[in-house]
Amino acid sequence: MGTPADASASASQLGLADVDAIALGRLSQELATAWHGFRRARSGQPDGGEVLEGLLEEGLPEGGVPLTQAIDDAMAVLDSSLAQSRPRFFGFVGGSGLESGVLADALAASFDINMASWSAAATLIEEQAIGWLAAFIGFPAGDGHFTSGGTVSTVSALAAARQRVAPECRALGTGHRRFGIYCSREAHASVGRAAELLGVGSAAVRALPQGPERGVVPRAVAEAIDADRADGSTPLAVVATAGTTLTGAIDPLDALADICAARGVWLHVDGAYGAPAAATRSVAAKFVGLERADSVSLDPHKWLYLPKACGALLIRDPRLLEATFGHEKSYMPDGEELSNAVDRTLEYSRPFRAFKLWLAFRVHGADAFRAAIERNIAHARLLYALVQQHPRLRAVAGPPALSIVPFQHVPEEEGVDLDAHNAGIVRRLQREGRVWVASAVVDGRVTIRPCFVNFRTVDEDVHALIDEVCRG
Ligand SMILES: Cc1ncc(COP(=O)(O)O)c(C=O)c1O
Repeated sequence: MGTPADASASASQLGLADVDAIALGRLSQELATAWHGFRRARSGQPDGGEVLEGLLEEGLPEGGVPLTQAIDDAMAVLDSSLAQSRPRFFGFVGGSGLESGVLADALAASFDINMASWSAAATLIEEQAIGWLAAFIGFPAGDGHFTSGGTVSTVSALAAARQRVAPECRALGTGHRRFGIYCSREAHASVGRAAELLGVGSAAVRALPQGPERGVVPRAVAEAIDADRADGSTPLAVVATAGTTLTGAIDPLDALADICAARGVWLHVDGAYGAPAAATRSVAAKFVGLERADSVSLDPHKWLYLPKACGALLIRDPRLLEATFGHEKSYMPDGEELSNAVDRTLEYSRPFRAFKLWLAFRVHGADAFRAAIERNIAHARLLYALVQQHPRLRAVAGPPALSIVPFQHVPEEEGVDLDAHNAGIVRRLQREGRVWVASAVVDGRVTIRPCFVNFRTVDEDVHALIDEVCRG
């Protein structure tokens, strides 16, 4: 006999109550198979074949198929998709699909808490997880929240910066003034996107020259700020990158903090990729000055290995997010004791993203994350050494600051177009699917650009990358 609640689930035809044992059994079986599979490299990337073709021909299903068949089909789709969880996925700033995070996601999705409004324990856990993240990287956060990723974090940080310097813009827009945003030429495209969305305009982004280690030149930043002020523009923010997407370069944070402090300009650190490395022994020194920033963005879905999407924004001044995003609305409970996150965030409906970081820190402890990041840094150093020793390979951007190593293959024949040659290698590797790497243009040259941010990667995978590149 089912309970009244069971009855309502089956009456709606949408519950899985009748088959929960089968569904959960299959789920745990498929997760175990996937996780075991991710621990080994595989010999190629399946294309889904006939199963996928059949599925793609289907129109909107009016009736259901048996759950087991739907799961079989779903697994075929997943198996023939590019999974960043695999140990030899070296493209972009990849992912890992951390297992404890996957479990947390399944649980959080089941409860479907909306983090837009006060959600009791979940709200308190988000605050605690923000505190843990800030402690992990050594930033004195007065406030913060989880976002869908680096792009939304940058938009939110620059909205807060605009609020501090030009609070009237929330009501009036930005037509009456000009702004400047200062960053290195290697800053992520989300800086330009944020400028566009905030009405500042991407032409206000001053992409400034980099020094020998690819960090932005502090003097160039100071001069650009001063020139803008003299010209009647308002400096909105310096966006320092702590780990560029292209090469992993870290801007000179302490020198930039000096410049910002002397001129009263907001310092945002885009640590979407690199900031977790501030917690490691081997590269912490490169992050000195991060603790002086006004805001920091960091994506746990990158180098803290969690499944997407999980970004975070940390901000020093506890009042500013509320000043930036707070608004009147009659459809949400407000009051002294209830604080709705939507009054401090860009998003309205938000999933409980904090939960997976919170659970992962509890299950593994911070030290396990530090050790995994150290291993990725070691993978990059190993690759750099192997490239340097190899007669047909050459590194393009100097020793890795973090875990990205752009390099080129130089064939024996003379007169070969190296850009086309290396682009061809990357296309071949992606087609063959034994390792997955993307190309990137560094200093005008097409490079093979691996990035190590996967806790499953081992030294053997680094050697395999070299073998696969040189095989053709
Ligand atoms: C340095 C940096 N900032 C921002 C972003 C954007 O992050 P997301 O894709 O999570 O929006 C990235 C993405 O790779 C990045 O590397």
